[in-house]
Amino acid sequence: MGIRPLFTADQIAARVEVLAGQIAMTIPGDFVVVGLLKGAAVFVADLVRALDRAGAVPEIEFMRLSSYGLAKESSGTPRLRGEVPADLSGRRVLLVDDIVDTGRSLGHAAWLLRQRRIGSLWTCTLIDKPERREVAVAVDLAGFRIGDVFVAGYGTDYAEKYRHLPYIGIVG
Ligand code: IMP
Ligand code: MG
Repeated sequence: MGIRPLFTADQIAARVEVLAGQIAMTIPGDFVVVGLLKGAAVFVADLVRALDRAGAVPEIEFMRLSSYGLAKESSGTPRLRGEVPADLSGRRVLLVDDIVDTGRSLGHAAWLLRQRRIGSLWTCTLIDKPERREVAVAVDLAGFRIGDVFVAGYGTDYAEKYRHLPYIGIVG
């Protein structure tokens, strides 16, 4: 199994900068970035620093859902591992994931956050795969839209490999 470059580190950095500008314009006042571990960790780290350049002042939280494990296919309903961040009641939240595929992970995370009576919710993903959607979920901001391919790098993995890569590639 190898990896073929799809988006370079420079292309990702340029998109992150644009996304941060859009977020700063879209979300008024203070808000909390909630990243989904582990995939969104690298994206969130770059996004929050771009948000600073865009004039936003986000807080940062993370939550973790069960993952694909070693497979490329999503396995049923994702489950929460650990806790939903505390004290989000009434807060504006930007939920951030690395990839939206079937929509189950983002949909479930959004549902968990709404249970906590957050104020408003926006969603952002670095990569959207609209063709793969099985569950309707609102994606407010997406960095890249791609077809039905499996990618890794820049935080995203294939069987825990490739997360450290500065670029995103197609696994195959
Ligand atoms: P969904 O729940 O089917 O939308 O899948 C979303 C989650 O699965 C994301 O949080 C990713 O971590 C992971 N995922 C989906 N597609 C890919 C991929 O192409 N490469 C790596 N991880 C993926
Ligand atoms: Mg994930």
